[in-house]
Amino acid sequence: MGIEAPSAIPYDEKSKIPREMTKEDIEETVNEFKNAAIRADKAGFDMIQIHAAHGYLLSEFLSPLTNQRQDEYGGSYENRVRFLGEVLDTVRAVWPQEKPIEVRVSAEDYGEGGNQPADLAAMLNLIKDKGIDSVNVSTGGVIPVMPKAFPGYQLPHAEMIKRLTGLPVAAGGLLSDPTEVNTFIEQGKADQVYLGRELLRNPYWALHASRTLNVDLEWPEPYKRADRRK
Ligand SMILES: Cc1cc2nc3c(=O)[nH]c(=O)nc-3n(C[C@H](O)[C@H](O)[C@H](O)COP(=O)(O)O)c2cc1C
Repeated sequence: MGIEAPSAIPYDEKSKIPREMTKEDIEETVNEFKNAAIRADKAGFDMIQIHAAHGYLLSEFLSPLTNQRQDEYGGSYENRVRFLGEVLDTVRAVWPQEKPIEVRVSAEDYGEGGNQPADLAAMLNLIKDKGIDSVNVSTGGVIPVMPKAFPGYQLPHAEMIKRLTGLPVAAGGLLSDPTEVNTFIEQGKADQVYLGRELLRNPYWALHASRTLNVDLEWPEPYKRADRRK
């Protein structure tokens, strides 16, 4: 079958050249998202995140750097977001109404002519009534460029997506300080935060954060005697 993409553009000079997807390929892929959602529900998951970030397939359709299609899946915002919209429609139809769906996006491509937060907000506004419960805001991955990362570096992107779409957002990027991230949420800059590398360093971050913020968090039964407040 080989590798497929919106347009036959390789990631970098060492990468294979993908085949431009046909409309039948897109239809089949939408159907696979539906089947995956059905499996996820059967397996007992409470929430689905549709990954439309980091240069994965849906993200490649959203970015003008990787999507140079001439048909109704390329060009305008409406066309570039069409595939994601179809995935949302089909997943929402089989995913229980009471279970949330989050969409993960790259709000910045870090390349000339690439997407920026306002572009993502414009596309999300076209599909938000299809049942997006929250937007997980990340950046990059469409082209081989690494951003300069510092604590909170993606927070302004999340803030802007929230302001321009009115959707709840999850912000992240080198976050580690519980008081700081709690302040972001209290100030209304983000509705949730996500942590990656800090959780690899400290898998008990949530328990430590609950102590710092003096919030009662239910400790797992075998760990209860380690909760110094008890
Ligand atoms: C080892 C590792 C694996 C990751 N794998 C994924 C992944 O499979 N999918 C994804 O969306 N993000 C992945 N990420 C990115 C994280 O979800 C997160 O966006 C990123 O690490 C920034 O948050 P941080 O600064 O708190 O680590 C990964 C990050 C790390 C460090």
